[in-house]
Amino acid sequence: MILRSFPSSELIARTAAQTFQEVVDTARREHRRATVALAGGSTPRLLYRLIAEELRTAIDWRHVEIFFGDERAVPRDHADSNFRMARETLLDRVPLPSMQIHPMDGGADDLSAAAEEYERILRERCRTGTGAFPAFDLLWLGMGDDGHTASLFPGTRALDETRASVVANDVPQLDTRRLTITFPVIAAARHVQFLVSGRGKAPKVAKVVELSATTIDRLPADAPPAARARPTSGILEWLVDEDAASDIERGA
Ligand code: 6PG
Repeated sequence: MILRSFPSSELIARTAAQTFQEVVDTARREHRRATVALAGGSTPRLLYRLIAEELRTAIDWRHVEIFFGDERAVPRDHADSNFRMARETLLDRVPLPSMQIHPMDGGADDLSAAAEEYERILRERCRTGTGAFPAFDLLWLGMGDDGHTASLFPGTRALDETRASVVANDVPQLDTRRLTITFPVIAAARHVQFLVSGRGKAPKVAKVVELSATTIDRLPADAPPAARARPTSGILEWLVDEDAASDIERGA
């Protein structure tokens, strides 16, 4: 686990944007597309806007394919849609063909069928990694104050999923359902980059750091889901601001 603390969320965004450019350039040199999964929520907005405003012409978009780590159970034009947020901050502002953008179908009546369809898309479009699961070249993730990541919320059934790559997950604490990738897909990723800012995240960031020396099979049952979000052989980076890092024990 590489933990990098920054004075501001702007510097988190700049660092993540640089990673994105490196991942795409590598894919271009290897004559393939970089498979990049976007995080939802509010933290990544700054990153997506920065890519659209500063890297629009620096990126060879022919070598980019965009996916999502999770989606709310809402139509794509709903204010809560992660796809809508990404579309408004990034996807509508760069020359990326729609065939290279793969939203999850959060508006589907049958979310389980939508999860199965997304799994098919991942298996068709992504190279495989650990355990023959779809392996993103770059997976951006956030973390909630409760330690959830993607839509892998504490105490929910998706935490125990070991076979499917994508599931519909009941989230009783939000009285809603979500579509989410599962831990095996996170484990297969080549580069996982957490983007976490704000004081509210500090207790769970400190817990994740404390548990980082514990092997995944020995994590306590009540470990924050984000503590389990580890690539088996890929890079794991936590980009945090000083507020989110403020509970980490010195020397941790
Ligand atoms: C979502 C995200 C979720 C998010 C965290 C952090 O659909 O909300 O996928 O996992 O990353 O909740 O959200 P903020 O960035 O808004 O704090």
